[in-house]
Amino acid sequence: MTAPAKSSGSCCAQCLTFLIAKIGVIALLLWLTLCVDEPRLYLDYIYVPSLNKTLNPNPHTHTNTTIFFTLKLVNNNKVNGIQYDDVSLSFSHFTSLNATRSLGNATVGGFYQGYHKGALKQGYLAATGNLTAPVNAGVYYRVDFKTAVKYKNLFWYTKRHRLWGGANVEIDASLGTKVHPKEVRLGGNSPAVIESGAPGIR
Ligand SMILES: *[C@@H]1O[C@H](CO)[C@@H](O)[C@H](O)[C@H]1NC(C)=O
Ligand SMILES: *[C@@H]1O[C@H](CO)[C@@H](O)[C@H](O)[C@H]1NC(C)=O
Ligand SMILES: *[C@@H]1O[C@H](CO)[C@@H](O)[C@H](O)[C@H]1NC(C)=O
Ligand SMILES: *[C@@H]1O[C@H](CO)[C@@H](O)[C@H](O)[C@H]1NC(C)=O
Ligand SMILES: *[C@@H]1O[C@H](CO)[C@@H](O)[C@H](O)[C@H]1NC(C)=O
Repeated sequence: MTAPAKSSGSCCAQCLTFLIAKIGVIALLLWLTLCVDEPRLYLDYIYVPSLNKTLNPNPHTHTNTTIFFTLKLVNNNKVNGIQYDDVSLSFSHFTSLNATRSLGNATVGGFYQGYHKGALKQGYLAATGNLTAPVNAGVYYRVDFKTAVKYKNLFWYTKRHRLWGGANVEIDASLGTKVHPKEVRLGGNSPAVIESGAPGIR
């Protein structure tokens, strides 16, 4: 602060202003440090080559069992970094409106993410079983994640917090990618059920 020089009588007032400003800054830092937001995880991209009709015009040769994906992790905190443990991803295939079968699992290695940053992590898995059978005239997958995070504030790392969530994703049966191009939030509590007639499943 560059307060203009005044008579000596205002020194006390200046000190007081300075002190209040300092307390304010400390309170703000503490508040920013202690109010942490969980990171948000999204399925940014998924590609199932066996559903790509250009690649395999004959459905009986859909033998490629690879699933490619890109996971997006977003840290919206203003001052807190995030240390991620390994992120376990599990992929399942809807075999009916309310039942799934595991296709396979993948791991995205743990990493440190600074405040206000987003990261894209690509990966793939060799799935098992039938990747292409439709339900209700669509091919639906379920993607779930599990991990734990520690938040780093200006002073210390917090203890670990466990995080998990998942979402249902409709896969385009002739392109092998998501029907809805928008990234899919792997939210906390969406059930692994296809709501019949719901057009917004993604
Ligand atoms: C599907 O296969 C075609 C032909 O190989 C390829 O050009 C296209 O990029 C594939 N689609 C995706 C999403 O990779
Ligand atoms: C499956 O298809 C993808 C994309 O075309 C290719 O990169 C991958 O090697 C294939 N996997 C197998 C096991 O053939
Ligand atoms: C799944 O749906 C079928 C009918 O489509 C129903 O009979 C069954 O009880 C449901 N199972 C669960 C666990 O909700
Ligand atoms: C994937 O992991 C889950 C447990 O997290 C397990 O139940 C399932 O069998 C695994 N799937 C495969 C194909 O290994
Ligand atoms: C997967 O299931 C569908 C429908 O039941 C069937 O048409 C297709 O041939 C199966 N694919 C494989 C690779 O078994």
